[in-house]
Formats: sequence, structure tokens, C-alpha cells
Amino acid sequence: MNQMKVTNQNADAPTTVPTPAFQPQTSMSETLTIVDNRTGKKYDLPIHDGTIRAMDLRQIKTGPDDFGMMTYDPALMNTANCRSGITYIDGDKGVLLYRGYPIEQLAEHSDYLETAYLILFGELPTTDQLHAWTREITLHTMLHENVKKFMEGFQYDAHPMAIFISTVGAMSGFYPDAKQIFDRESRLRQTHRAIAKVPSIAAYAFRHSIGRPYIYPDNDLSFTGNFLNMLFKMTEVKYQPNPVLARALDVLFILHADHEQNCSTTTMRTIGSSQADPYSSLAGAAAALYGPLHGGANEAVLRMLNDIGSVAKVPDFIRKVKSGEGNNRLMGFGHRVYKSYDPRAKVIKKIADLVFTVTGKNPLLEIALELERIALQDEYFVSRKLYPNVDFYSGLIYQAMGFPVEMFPVLFAIPRTAGWIAQWEEMLLDPEQKIARPRQIYKGPKQRDYISREKRS
Ligand code: CMC
Repeated sequence: MNQMKVTNQNADAPTTVPTPAFQPQTSMSETLTIVDNRTGKKYDLPIHDGTIRAMDLRQIKTGPDDFGMMTYDPALMNTANCRSGITYIDGDKGVLLYRGYPIEQLAEHSDYLETAYLILFGELPTTDQLHAWTREITLHTMLHENVKKFMEGFQYDAHPMAIFISTVGAMSGFYPDAKQIFDRESRLRQTHRAIAKVPSIAAYAFRHSIGRPYIYPDNDLSFTGNFLNMLFKMTEVKYQPNPVLARALDVLFILHADHEQNCSTTTMRTIGSSQADPYSSLAGAAAALYGPLHGGANEAVLRMLNDIGSVAKVPDFIRKVKSGEGNNRLMGFGHRVYKSYDPRAKVIKKIADLVFTVTGKNPLLEIALELERIALQDEYFVSRKLYPNVDFYSGLIYQAMGFPVEMFPVLFAIPRTAGWIAQWEEMLLDPEQKIARPRQIYKGPKQRDYISREKRS
């Protein structure tokens, strides 16, 4: 892999980072000619990687007082915010690659910690690197006792995602060295801490919500085996995780580890661009994930399936979705980028069968299959290219494994932590990045004078 010396203006020291394909690709003929019909002026803008720079439009002006042309792109539907070498998605073909490796191959052959290493450091680890990485993560799984006390302050019925977001943010106060974001060693230390501690935080949030004592990590177990231990251990001396369930969690974690510039990752990059410490950025990213249109969708899918209640009621629900009655959406369907079957959903469907051999079939599965069957042949969904996404079946698996629906977004946030950190670090070391600061088109009142209260109508 290419190694590029990147010196950030504010860096304590230069840092060496992997840069797979960051050099702009262009040729002399690659320009876009724009004619401004207001002035008759013509502009030739260079095209790099099939993209023009929005800042190049600023030269297009009607006169010296004109601020210059901007693009209007609510929800950033057609704006590349960065160059990235981490995750590639071809939404039309249903392709997802981490650092070039197809998600299907990683789901079959890798485990979460190895995939996290790949996402963070750019290459699959050697045996020695994997052992060292696993050891570091294992050594950091414990939570500071005061973090536990902090979590105890929540009401018993607090949503575990609210506890998770707050606790991840609170880690900023426990690890002040995290502020040294341009120090490579410090970044690595926070990476170990964050990846290792999010399952412990998630498990404690779960135990707290059901009034059970916290379980300390068991370093003999695998990453997901230990997570199951911290969640479900009762009075037994040593918890033995079910290998099928531990493996299923590993695969689910691989599938959720990164997904390029989605809402939460963009939040991570945006907060990080102000040079906040990584825990503050992670808390913001997790908050963005919480919403039902993003990581909260798997929770919403389960609630939807419960509301539908039976296979016989599926056609009526589909009718309501199509007519907009009750503001229903078919949760777990549709994606901003995938306009074909989400490749993660395909893998999940296979794991579901495996998990159900251990847990018994989730009775809601029949409803989900019928929803999918009808939707995939209904003109409304077909014409809008709405296919099942990762969240359509993941909730069914989590529920069968014994998780309450409130835990579903937390289970998404644990593996996504690897992706968030990788994207944050990539942003931090990218010399082209600055504090994120979009523009607006102001449509409010023009300047006016203050009116005293008695004169207001
Ligand atoms: N059910 C019914 N109609 C839908 C759905 C849906 N799930 N998703 C999109 N549509 C319709 C939408 O009403 C619109 O129709 P029209 O053109 O007639 O107005 C059209 O399809 C385009 O929708 P959009 O809202 O403009 O698409 P978007 O790219 O802004 O939204 C989405 C993407 C994922 C937010 C949306 O598809 C959705 O709300 N899905 C349900 C929530 C969900 O499952 N989210 C998880 C996403 S995957 C996990 C992750 O990465 O976060």
C-alpha cells in the first residue's frame, strides 16, 4: 500500500497514513464548460474523479458585489464531502467492499476484530498483528468504576441508547489525553479503548434496564463471546457462550462495521472537524444513529411487525404504506444508496436460518417474509427501487437471541464504532479537510429595526 506523508497544519507531529487512491484522477480534456446566461461569460472547470469542485463555482459572478455561485444540495444528496479509501458501495449493483474486500467474503471468513483492524489500518492483519490487536482490545474491556456509577444514575426505564450515547460522551471526561488528537499514540490508545469498551457499555446499559448486576468482562472469551457473557451471565461460575450465536453476532458486527458517508459517519466527521476529542464525536455519531431512519430502523421494523400482527394483515398494511395512510413507511426497506438488494440483507437472511436452529423460529419471520414477497412484486416498491436493507431481518435475529427492541440500535453502534473512528482519523489527517461549515440560502426578513413591546401588533 502507498504511504503518504501527511502534515496537518495543526499537527503536533507528521503522521504516516495509508492512502490507497487519494490522488485526483484527471486528464487535460476533462473539463466542464459552463455558460452563465446572465452575463454571457463562459467558464471551464476542471473535472477530477468525475467531480467538479463546488468552490470553482464561486468565480461565477454577475458583478463585483455578487458573492458567487453556490450549489444547493439539501441532505447532501449529490455532494462528495471527502476522498475516502475505506468503504466502497455500488448501490445499483448491490456491492459493498471494505478496503476492497467484498462483504460476503469477510462475513464468511473473517471475524469482527479482524475486520475492524482492516477498516482501521487498511490491510488484513498478519497472525502476529491480529494477536497483538486482540490482546490490546481484550486489555481495555473494563470500565472505570465511576463510569458504572455514572450509568447507575439513569432511571431503570431509560432507553439503552440514551445511556450508551451519554456514557460514550462521558468517556471524554475520563480520558483527557483523548484531546491530543494529532498525537498518533494517543489516537491509537483511544481506538483501543473505544472498540473495547463499547460492548461493556452496551451490556451494562442492558443489565441496568432489567435491574441485573453488571458482569465484568471475561478475557478468556472472544469479543462477541465476552459480550454475550456480559449480557446474559446469571449465577453460573463461568459463562459458556453458544458458538452459533457468538458467530452470528460476529457476522452481524462485520456487516455493520462501516458504510461510508451515512448520516452518523458524516456527523462523526463533522464534529471531529472542529477538533473535538473522539469520544465527543462518537457520542454525536451514536446520537445520529439513534433515529428511526438510520440505526433505529431495526427497532422500528420489529415494532412494525408487531403492529401488523399476522400474515393475513400484510396486504392491508402495504396498502396503507402506498396510500400514505397513517404516515406509515415499510421500515427496513429502501436506502439512499442501494437501488438493488442490500448485500448485507442477503447475508443476514442466511444467518437468520442458522440462529433460528438454536433459538427456535421468530414468529414474526412469517410476517417479514410475506411483506418482502409482496413488496418485491408491487409496482410502488419496484418503481422506486425499494428493497430490503440491512435492518429488515437483523431485528428478527436480535429478538430471537433474547435482546429487547430497545437494544437494537445499540447493537448497531458497537461495530460501527470501528468505522466511525477510521473515518474520523481519515478526515483528521486529510490536508484538504477543514472545519465543516456549509452555506445557506437566506430566505428570512431583510434587516429591520427593533420594535418596542407596546408597539408590536
Ligand atoms: N416505505 C415506503 N416508501 C418509501 C420507503 C419505505 N421504506 N422508502 C422510500 N420510500 C418512497 C418515498 O416515499 C419516496 O416516494 P415518492 O417519490 O413517491 O415521494 C421515494 O420512495 C424515495 O424516498 P426518499 O425518502 O426520497 O428516499 P431517501 O433516499 O431520502 O430515503 C431512507 C432513504 C432509508 C431514509 C428511506 O428509504 C426510508 O425511510 N426507509 C425506511 C427506514 C429504514 O429502513 N432505514 C434504514 C436504512 S439502512 C440502515 C442504515 O444504513 O442506516
